[in-house]
Amino acid sequence: MNPRRALITGITGQDGSYLTEFLLGKGYEVHGLIRRSSSFNTSRINHVYRDPHEASAGLFLHYADMTDPICLSNLIQHVKPTEVYNLAAQSHVRVSFDQPIYTGDVVALGAIRLLEAIRDFQDRWGYQVRYYQASSSEQFGKVVETPQTEKTPFYPRSPYGVAKVYAHWITINYRESYNLHASCGILFNHESPRRGETFLTRKISRAVGRIKHGLQKSVFLGNLESKRDWGFAGDYVRAMWLMLQQEKPDDYVVATGQTHSVREFCEKAFAHVGLDYRDFIQIDPRYFRPAEVDLLLGDSTKARTALGWQPKVDFQHLVTMMVDADLELAQREKTLIEAGHAVSTPKEQA
Ligand code: NAP
Ligand code: GDD
Repeated sequence: MNPRRALITGITGQDGSYLTEFLLGKGYEVHGLIRRSSSFNTSRINHVYRDPHEASAGLFLHYADMTDPICLSNLIQHVKPTEVYNLAAQSHVRVSFDQPIYTGDVVALGAIRLLEAIRDFQDRWGYQVRYYQASSSEQFGKVVETPQTEKTPFYPRSPYGVAKVYAHWITINYRESYNLHASCGILFNHESPRRGETFLTRKISRAVGRIKHGLQKSVFLGNLESKRDWGFAGDYVRAMWLMLQQEKPDDYVVATGQTHSVREFCEKAFAHVGLDYRDFIQIDPRYFRPAEVDLLLGDSTKARTALGWQPKVDFQHLVTMMVDADLELAQREKTLIEAGHAVSTPKEQA
């Protein structure tokens, strides 16, 4: 049995896929929790998945769901992980206003279900499990100070943000009550070419690629004035791992320390292909939120000092990386369309 076994919830998501690659590269046996879906949901990890019967296979997938405590407990007992990364979430802030109870169930109660399963496993068998909780800068919401640090009080502005605050504090509570090696990474927005297509950055890079190739005429957005501290997901999963390698568990802000508006992201993304964003963006009130988070800017001094972490990809590089990837994707779509194939196109949603 490999002495380094990680269990990742949310393995099919953006961060789960980068973390899987990272941990496999470090020689871990990686186990992922996937939920049943009516269509395939493993596209981000298919490239690293091998036949589980092969001797060299390092990635194993298991059906479970954050809403089902029995299967979480069974999974922990079965995998006997040395590290658990809890990344699963209904992670879309706008959608959390439409599905507040489900979001709370998965994000807040999901975390305590997993922590309970780990606590029970440790008590029963004497194993030590290290736990990572995916906390979020969304917890700072209507920020009470700038920049935000580990000591900044939370003021969440969405059902998602409130649920993350619960998950954050219950993780700290389990650390203090049961001596669990549990750490929270308060990660600011991080993006990549694998970002879900309804998040702002990817919605824009996708639109730029398709507009440039003549597959789309414009893109509908909401608030252009909010500001985010945007980093690259590949850099941020390294910080998650570093947190679990420390002797003592703790909480860390992970951020670039730079903030940019939605408008600026649009400007740079369209400019990269020689277009003026003002010619292609339309405002649709449906994409405004009942309560907005206007400004996020993180101070990650603690992570940089204690973990030796720092980001390698800056804002300009992130924008061009995403647009270049989506230009290629749009080119492939165009080729298929010209050959008479049906392609599924991004819909205007969230
Ligand atoms: P993501 O791409 O939306 O991935 C979410 C993952 O959670 C997917 O694998 C999804 O599975 C899974 N999931 C959703 N509901 C589930 C359920 N009921 N049971 C089991 N799995 C479920 O999110 P991400 O960007 O990778 O973010 C990873 C984590 O970090 C999330 O907890 C997010 O809230 C948090 N976070 C993200 C950011 C950011 O900027 N990306 C910043 C701070 C914190 P399907 O593939 O089947 O949908
Ligand atoms: N999604 C989206 N779609 N956002 C838009 C749009 C649009 O059409 N138009 C403007 N925005 C604005 C939003 O109002 C928000 O101010 C900003 O763009 C970023 O939105 P998202 O990309 O959806 O991200 P988020 O900041 O709300 O949440 C992300 O980051 C959090 C960390 O701070 C998610 O990944 C969360 O899961 C994560 O915790």
